[in-house]
Amino acid sequence: MPRHIAIVMDGNGRWAKAQHKPRHAGHQAGLKTVRRMVEYCINAGVEVLTLFAFSSENWRRPEEEVGLLMELFMMALRMEVKRLKAHQVKLSIIGNRSAFSEKLQKRMLEAENQTKDGTALTLQIAANYGGQWDITQAVQQIGQKIEQGLLKSTDINEALINQHLSFSHLPDPDLFIRTGGEQRISNFILWQSAYTEFYFCDTYWPDFNQQAFIIALESYLNRQRRFGKTSEQIQ
Ligand code: IPE
Ligand code: IPE
Ligand code: MG
Repeated sequence: MPRHIAIVMDGNGRWAKAQHKPRHAGHQAGLKTVRRMVEYCINAGVEVLTLFAFSSENWRRPEEEVGLLMELFMMALRMEVKRLKAHQVKLSIIGNRSAFSEKLQKRMLEAENQTKDGTALTLQIAANYGGQWDITQAVQQIGQKIEQGLLKSTDINEALINQHLSFSHLPDPDLFIRTGGEQRISNFILWQSAYTEFYFCDTYWPDFNQQAFIIALESYLNRQRRFGKTSEQIQ
């Protein structure tokens, strides 16, 4: 089983369009898939689920869609905490939060605090997250420590950079899933996906169900992760 699954939840807009509904209806339907996905992951024994909810580039969308997404986010944080607590889920939000309204930032902290004792699953929501942002903020932190004399430039190595990234305390994603048919990473987890297994499917996120999840898991289980070694060494 993968310990950590990271998902680009794509296809909400096209799902809505196919049903002659506004894009926002697709995002609302996508939230239902999030609820189901959390349960599947708990049942499958997955430790960490990271969901790409809003990228650092999604601010480029029409103002109305961004506004509605923020409202949905606010609503979800308010409504879901109880359910997450009941399922022993620890919520964590990764990304540059400073761009969000004060109210939303406060709600994020509250939701994290209220769920901090969860042990069944860590649910990471990537909001205003970008892989390039993550590496940049890590480099900034390291630069500050060098300026303060706490580190020397010769101390910089992969492990040190890793320590300054957003979720260095968690295992790297084992499985990456992108729904919606596009085969790209869209600035999601870059550094941490060095040895992640990639899986793409055409299903729009609101339609991604348990069966689709099992097919993704089967694909993962049929792969041999070699991490640079030969097949014979692994066997
Ligand atoms: C992903 O679905 C959700 C967010 C980016 C918030 P999209 O909104 O990108 O759906 P499509 O790609 O337009 O179908
Ligand atoms: C990536 O989806 C971001 C999220 C799912 C939150 P997009 O739909 O924004 O990605 P691009 O723009 O098609 O690459
Ligand atoms: Mg999209």
